[in-house]
Amino acid sequence: MKKIGLVLVVASLWLAANVLAQQQGDIFEALHCGGCHKSDVSAASPSLKEIAGAYQAKEDQLVKYLKGEAGSIVWPADGNLMKRAIEKTKALSDGGRKALADFIMGHGAHGE
Ligand code: HEC
Repeated sequence: MKKIGLVLVVASLWLAANVLAQQQGDIFEALHCGGCHKSDVSAASPSLKEIAGAYQAKEDQLVKYLKGEAGSIVWPADGNLMKRAIEKTKALSDGGRKALADFIMGHGAHGE
């Protein structure tokens, strides 16, 4: 009986983690960020992997950037291309911005 309980707890934790990752990704999709940013291939825009690498151990700074309170560090010369997207991320709740930052950071070397 104990074993079944443990299996259920593990299964529901696994499910919760997946639902969370899904919701984080939903914000990214809902704001149309994926039209420019791919997971791991940088082209006209840096990939999420490249962004996560640049912000490694600096997620707080990434959250500030998404709030419009910090400058860009990845491709600063192209920073104006993010102006409209930043207007959208500024309008998110603090929790929404954190979830979005978590989603981006999940593409770094220690994520996934
Ligand atoms: C029109 C294309 C486009 C869209 C849409 C877009 N981005 Fe970007 N993004 C770029 C480009 C180009 C850069 C590189 C400029 C830079 O680093 O400042 C960039 C850079 C970034 C960076 C790195 C900033 C830094 O410090 O340099 C983050 C984080 C980011 N985008 C997140 C997002 C999110 C979240 C969304 C959706 C709300 C989004 N982007 C939508 C083109 C886009």
